Amino acid sequence: MRIAVLAGGMSSEREISFSSGKNAAAALREAGFGTVDLLDPADKGFLDDIRAGGYDAAFIALHGAGGEDGMIQHLMEYLDMPYTGSDALASACGVDKDLSKALYERAGIPVADGVAIRRGEKIDPDAIVASLGHDLFVKPAINGSSYGVTKVSDAQELPKAIERAFEYSSKVLVESCLTGTEITVGVFGDDDSLRALPIVEICCPDEVDFYDLSVKYVVSDSIHRIPARLPEDVYAQAQELACRAHRALGCFGFSRTDFIVTKDGPVILETNTIPGMTETSLFPDEVRHEGRAFSDVCAELVDMAIA
Ligand code: DAL
Ligand code: MG
Repeated sequence: MRIAVLAGGMSSEREISFSSGKNAAAALREAGFGTVDLLDPADKGFLDDIRAGGYDAAFIALHGAGGEDGMIQHLMEYLDMPYTGSDALASACGVDKDLSKALYERAGIPVADGVAIRRGEKIDPDAIVASLGHDLFVKPAINGSSYGVTKVSDAQELPKAIERAFEYSSKVLVESCLTGTEITVGVFGDDDSLRALPIVEICCPDEVDFYDLSVKYVVSDSIHRIPARLPEDVYAQAQELACRAHRALGCFGFSRTDFIVTKDGPVILETNTIPGMTETSLFPDEVRHEGRAFSDVCAELVDMAIA
C-alpha cells in the first residue's frame, strides 16, 4: 500500500509537524507499509505529486492553520483521497477554541470562564479583570503549541498580551486562570470502538509559568507522568469527558484533549484533532503506556481512513 504522510504546512507549528510526520512515517514503515512518502502541502509541486503518486491514503500529520482546521481535509475530499483523522467540519470546530467551547458547554463539559475578542473590538481591561479575576490566560483562539499565549496577573498587562495573541489569530480568548493539575487524555478508535488512553499528567518545571513551548518539545521523564496521579473517580471522569469532547466536535479516529483538574473536577482547555506525534509528544506516550506499539496505532488510523 502507498501512503502519503502530509507534514510541514503553513502554520507556526510547521517544524513540529515535520517531527510528527517523520515519526509517523517511520512507524508506518515499521508496520509494513511498502511506500511511505513525506509530502509538504506548502510545496509548489504538492498537488501534482499527490495526484501522480498513486497513493491509497494520506496520513495527515499537520498541526494548526491549513492542516488541523479543515483546509487540507477539504482538499483531500476533492482529490477523492482517503485521509486519517477528523473531517473538515470537525477539524474547523476543534481548531477554534471559542467555537469549540460552545460545543463543549452544550455537551455538559465544564469550560473556563472567558471572553472572546475580535480584532478591532474595543476592550475594557478593568471590566475584564472585574468579571474574570486578576490571573488570566490570553491566547489566540486559533493556534496550537502555546504560540502567542501569555499568562497575565494585572489589567495593565492585558492590552499587550492581547496584541501578541492577535499576531497568531484574528480572534483572541481571555480566560480565568484555572488552578490545578494539567492533564491530557488521548482517545482512539472509530465511532463504535472509541476509548480513552491512559492519562498523562503534565508536571511543569517551577521556572516556567505554564506548559509552554520551552518544555513541550524537550525530552524529560519529569515533565510527563503516566498514569496521572488522580483519584480513581476523577481519572475515569476525565477519560469519559475526553470521549465526550471528541464526539461533541464530531471527531474521528483520534484526538487528545487537555484539561485542568481543579478542586471541582476536570475543566476542559482544548481538543487537538491532530495531536503531536513527535518522539516526545503526549499521544504516542499514552499509546506506549497502554502496551501498544505506536506503529500499530498509525496503521489502524490508516485502516479506519480507508474502511
Ligand atoms: N498542537 C500540538 C501539536 C499538540 O497539541 O500536540
Ligand atoms: Mg494543548
